[in-house]
Amino acid sequence: MSQLQVSIENGQILVISINRPDKMNALNIALIAELGEVLAKYDDDNAIRGVILTGVGTKAFAAGADIAEFAHFTADEGENLSHRGHVIFKVIEHYPKPIIAAVNGFALGGGCELAMVCHLRVATANAKFGQPEVNLGIIPGYGGTQRLVQLIGKGRALELLMTADMITAEQALSFGLVNHVVRDHADLLPKCTEIINKIAKKAPLAIAKIIDSVNAHFAHNRDGFAAEIQHFADCFLTEDFKEGTTAFIEKRSATFVGK
Ligand code: COA
Repeated sequence: MSQLQVSIENGQILVISINRPDKMNALNIALIAELGEVLAKYDDDNAIRGVILTGVGTKAFAAGADIAEFAHFTADEGENLSHRGHVIFKVIEHYPKPIIAAVNGFALGGGCELAMVCHLRVATANAKFGQPEVNLGIIPGYGGTQRLVQLIGKGRALELLMTADMITAEQALSFGLVNHVVRDHADLLPKCTEIINKIAKKAPLAIAKIIDSVNAHFAHNRDGFAAEIQHFADCFLTEDFKEGTTAFIEKRSATFVGK
C-alpha cells in the first residue's frame, strides 16, 4: 500500500505527503524508495514547475527513520540503509525543479535530513527540528552531518548533533535552517505555493541551472565557478534567453517555454 499521498495542484505543483501519521510519518525503506519513484516520474514533465514535500497531519513532517525497522540491523544492513537513502536524497538535491519541504511538525533525524536536502524549507510555528540519533547510539545516516553544517555552520551543527537538542521553528529561522515560518498549519501549503508560483514565472532551464550551480559549490569533485560559467553560456542557446531579453527590450512580461 502506498505510504505517500500524491496530488497535482493547479496543474503545475506536485504535492507529496508522507502518510504514516500514526507513526509520526517515520521513514521506512519502502517509503523512501517510493519517494524516489514518484520524483523520477515527474522530473522531465514540463507541466510540473515545483514540488512540495510535506507530512500528513499537524504533528510530524517525519520523526526520523523507522526505528522499529532498523533496530535489529547488522552493520552491513545499516550501511545498505544509509547508502540507499543517500542515493534517493541525491535525486532530491539534484532535482531540476524546486522542491520545498513544508515542515508541518516534528522534523527529527531522517525527517530533518529530508527537510534539509530539499531546496527550500517552510515551517509551521509548532515545528521542531533535531538530530536525536545519538540518543539511540547512532549518528545521522541520510546526510545530516554534512547538510546541517552547510545550512547552519559547524559550531551550531556540532552542538545539535552531539546534544540531540530540538530547536523550535523560530530558532531554525534564526539559524537559517528554514526560509520562512508560518503561524498556522492552514498557511503552510499556500506559502509554499506562493513561492513555487513565483519561480514558475521564470525560465525553467535557468532554474535547473541555478540548482545545479549551487549544488556544485558543495560537490568536492566539481568547481562551482566553472559550473556557473558553463551553465551561463548554455543559457544563451535557449529560446527562453531570447524571449527574456526581447521581452525586457519590448517592455512586456516574458513567457517562458522551458526550451
Ligand atoms: N520510528 C518509528 N516509530 C516512530 C518514530 C520513529 N522514528 N517516531 C515515532 N514513532 C511512533 C511511536 O513509536 C508511536 O508508535 P505507537 O503508537 O505504535 O507506540 C507513534 O509513532 C507516536 O509516537 P509517540 O512517541 O507516542 O508520540 P509523542 O508525541 O509522545 O512523541 C516524538 C513524539 C517525535 C518526540 C517521539 O515519537 C520521538 O522521539 N520519536 C523518535 C525520534 C527519533 O529518535 N528520531 C530519529 C530516528 S533515527
